Amino acid sequence: MASTRGEFSSRFGFIMAAAGSAVGLGNIWGFPTQAASNGGAAFLLVYLVLAFSLAYPALMAELIIGRHAHANAVSALRLISPGALTRRIGMSTGIIGFIVASLILSFYGIVAGWMIAYFLASLAELLGLDGAAGWLTTFGLPRNVLFMLVFMVLTVGIISEGVREGIERWSSRLMPILLVTLLLLVAYVLTLDGATDGLKVYLLPDFERVLSPKLIISALGAAFFSLSLGVGTMLIYGSYVSDRENLPALGGMVTLVDISIAVLAGFLVLPAMYVALNNGVEIFNASGALISEDTLIFTVLPALFDTMGTAGVVVSLTFFFLMSIAALTSSISMLEVPVAYTIEEHGVSRKTAVVIIGALIAGVSTLILLNFGELFGFVIALTTRYSQPLLGFMFCIYAGWIWHRDSLLQELRKGYPEVERGLFWKIWPAYVRVVCPVIILAIFAQSIWG
Ligand code: PFF
Repeated sequence: MASTRGEFSSRFGFIMAAAGSAVGLGNIWGFPTQAASNGGAAFLLVYLVLAFSLAYPALMAELIIGRHAHANAVSALRLISPGALTRRIGMSTGIIGFIVASLILSFYGIVAGWMIAYFLASLAELLGLDGAAGWLTTFGLPRNVLFMLVFMVLTVGIISEGVREGIERWSSRLMPILLVTLLLLVAYVLTLDGATDGLKVYLLPDFERVLSPKLIISALGAAFFSLSLGVGTMLIYGSYVSDRENLPALGGMVTLVDISIAVLAGFLVLPAMYVALNNGVEIFNASGALISEDTLIFTVLPALFDTMGTAGVVVSLTFFFLMSIAALTSSISMLEVPVAYTIEEHGVSRKTAVVIIGALIAGVSTLILLNFGELFGFVIALTTRYSQPLLGFMFCIYAGWIWHRDSLLQELRKGYPEVERGLFWKIWPAYVRVVCPVIILAIFAQSIWG
């Protein structure tokens, strides 16, 4: 089986793919808006600490297990388990992981569909098709279903091409475009009146807001979501990495790219909000707090673009193009999780697996859209707030306690022969065994009983 599996062709290919998975709506939308309403630079600080001390070790747990097994999460956790019970729990963890990955894709596809609709709306506006633009930006079932489907077809199309021709090729093309587009937008927005007020909110820390447990649990959820952890995405990408590569270095690069893009997106979104305020757009709610995250992208920013004339339409087009690309390089990684499992465990061809699973997920998205009020927020909270950190906890337990340490060390030595002398090996084992599990549980206990 292993010989027919795909493999990334180069280090660059892997970094683009894994960073493509990590960099998504979470970075460009989630992170800046959370920072805005939670103490600016203080949130940034908490986020950075959590990302390096908890998310990076958990990322490494997934990458190492994946590369060792060169298989999906279910087989991989089975492989490293010494006994019947640990094997069974490991396999269940893998199965829950691919269900959660599919559920994340089911809501992510809806939001990504909106991004495409808004992108097309700007295009329609440029062409003078105001009626079409109006329809594209109005919340309605036909529009929502249609663009969720368009996005799912793109995702399915890429994943059906496989690891190198699909995931790697498209991530390596789209990620540089994403970076350039983001830089251009940041450079432009920073020249506008009001931008410096946004920078102040972003960069001046308000520590009073930061130590609240609620904030810390959302920062933890955000860090896990941002690095695509817990659901087996990074494990499956790790399984396509060659044995010659130094995994701790690769994981470090991916974490750095992910965090840098989130921080960079903060230089776009927060200044843009204050430029909007400067142009008369309301960005505070009745109680004086910053407007909520979900309304920001689809109300404040479009309202801002509207105040800017033709330049605004071009900026809007660029912005929603950026969001669509960011979403696509992430969604392919979510779909790869159930697809790889189905190919490897049930001997189905890639094309068949992709089409069937893609259709099932689109079905779930439609169900969510039909019961939007009840299901949308529920699925997001269930998957990102609770499931991802808890599954991440399980991966840490398997890497730290269940898997035989000699075998783990041997795996790391493959691309990094002197690993025992490096800093990584001095710190990481203690983190993955004790620090990560304890902190994840403590934050959870606090959120439930606190
Ligand atoms: N990391 C992505 C983001 O920040 O938008 C979201 C994500 C991708 C979550 C892949 C989970 C996943 F498996």
